Order: sequence, then C-alpha cells, then structure tokens
Amino acid sequence: MNAFTYAEPSESQPEIPLLGGDVTEGVVQVGDTVRRPVGPHTPLVHALLRHLEEVGFAGAPRLLGIDAAGREVLTFVSGEVAGRPRPGWIADEERLASVGRLVRDYDDAVAGFVVPAGVRPGQGVSPPPGMPPAPPYPAELVGHMDYTPDNIVFRDGRAAALIDFDLAKPVPRVDEVCNAMLYWAPLGDPADADPLLRGVDVPRRCRILADAYGTSDVDRSRLVEVAVLRTRRAWFSMKQIAEERGGGWARMWEEGVGDEIKRREAWLERNGATIHAALTAP
Ligand SMILES: Nc1ncnc2c1ncn2[C@@H]1O[C@H](COP(=O)(O)OP(=O)(O)O)[C@@H](O)[C@H]1O
Ligand SMILES: [Mg+2]
Repeated sequence: MNAFTYAEPSESQPEIPLLGGDVTEGVVQVGDTVRRPVGPHTPLVHALLRHLEEVGFAGAPRLLGIDAAGREVLTFVSGEVAGRPRPGWIADEERLASVGRLVRDYDDAVAGFVVPAGVRPGQGVSPPPGMPPAPPYPAELVGHMDYTPDNIVFRDGRAAALIDFDLAKPVPRVDEVCNAMLYWAPLGDPADADPLLRGVDVPRRCRILADAYGTSDVDRSRLVEVAVLRTRRAWFSMKQIAEERGGGWARMWEEGVGDEIKRREAWLERNGATIHAALTAP
C-alpha cells in the first residue's frame, strides 16, 4: 500500500454509473466519491488537483487517492450538472457570466502551478501531419480547456466547480476564454447547437463571458483569430485521437464531429467580424 492508496470505508457501497461525459467510460459514484479510469494525462491532473487544494481553490474536486481497481478517487462535488437534454437555464445570461467568473477564478488559482519535472502535459501524442500551427501566443497557465456544460457544477444558480481536468494543458488565457465561448456562447453553426441555444445572440454572449472573465484588451483583440486557429487544429487532433484511442472519441468522429468542426470554421469566417466588434466595443 503506497501513500496514494485510497482507504475504503469498512462498509461497501454500490457503484452508480455517472453519465453525461462523452468519452470516459466507467465513471462511477461510490458514496461521496467518484472513481475514474487513469490515463496518460493523469500525472499532470493529479499534480494540478493537489496544487488547487494547496491554494484553497474551492471549485474543484479533491484527489483522495487510487483505489484497489487502479482508478482515481475524487470527492463527489454536489450540485447541478447540465446533462442531456439540456435544462432551460443553459441559455441564461446570469449563469453564463458565472461561468466566466469561475474560469477566471480557476485561472488565477492555477497561475502559480508549475508542471512538475518529468510530467508531460497534453495528450502525449505528436501532432498529426498537416495540422496548422497553434496560435503564436505563449502559455500563461495550465488551462482546464474543456468547459462543456457537463464539466461544470452549479449551485444556487451559479457555476461553482469544475470537474474533468483530463484535457488540461499549458495555454495562454485567451484560449481558456475561447474554450468557454465554444460551449457557452456557443461558437459554431446554429444547426449544430442545442435547440435551447439556437436563437441566442452569440456575439452578445461572447461579450458577457469576456467581461465576466475580465479579459484584457489584447486578448479580446486576439480572440476570434484564436478561435479560428483552434477550430482548424481541432479537426486534425480529433481525427488523430479517434484513430489512436478509439472508444468514445472514435464514436464522436463516426457521428460526424469532423464535419461539425468544418461547419464551425465556416461559421466563424462569416461571423468573426461581428464577434470581434462585440468583444472590443467600448
Ligand atoms: N467529482 C465529481 N463530482 C460530481 N459529479 C461528477 C464528478 N466527476 C464526474 N461527475 C459527473 O459525471 C459526469 C461524467 O464525468 P466526467 O469526469 O466529466 O467524464 P468524461 O471524461 O466522460 O466527460 C460529469 O458530467 C458529471 O455529471
Ligand atoms: Mg466530462
């Protein structure tokens, strides 16, 4: 038994499957804990979760150890996660602003985190051939980078905690804001959006998120550029992960996520100027 072995309570409790995520199979709740499979990303995520605990960041689960089945054990964060079908509040602007504030709080809490020596951030695969370069801005912190509605726990009508840090990686802050917009504005062809988010004013929602985060003027001016570049890269990286990892990733690719990304790119080309104007207006 090593220091990270989770000591189970004496009474055994049932395993309740937690659905909602797209990719990780076997996420279960056991009592007031969650068990998730580990992977190549785990050393970074665990160092990150320990840092968040050390600095007293309340908006993330705590890491409790590894169980006898080799799964990570996290605290269960109580509250409300959007799930599917999406709840009516998914389009609510107060909730949207609270997401921007939580992303900011997380980014400020993680800003002092240094990736430990020997820990490789990212998905651990080399970039696929043909993948366009990343935005030319230096990383500022280890971003969460997966702000889907399924990864945010709400309490009292406000975004209160983040879960699922599997995609965390070093990024500039503008990428964090861009990622939150991707799911919450949302950025993409309305045909691909949840019905509840189809008629919303996307540029206005981008502005609400950017303001709530406290996005700098420089980052506002870079945001659309970053969104386009990230979208172009996403097509290549999703294809690669689907091929290399299979499972939920392959299912998403078969279901047409690649075409959805292409439609998002075209939509961004058509709407980027309007979003840029909304973000940079006084
Ligand atoms: N620590 C946690 N506290 C509360 N709910 C959780 C926790 N971890 C996961 N969940 C729930 O389980 C769902 C799937 O887990 P997640 O870790 O996001 O897996 P995936 O990698 O498949 O997205 C989440 O959308 C959330 O509803
Ligand atoms: Mg998830």
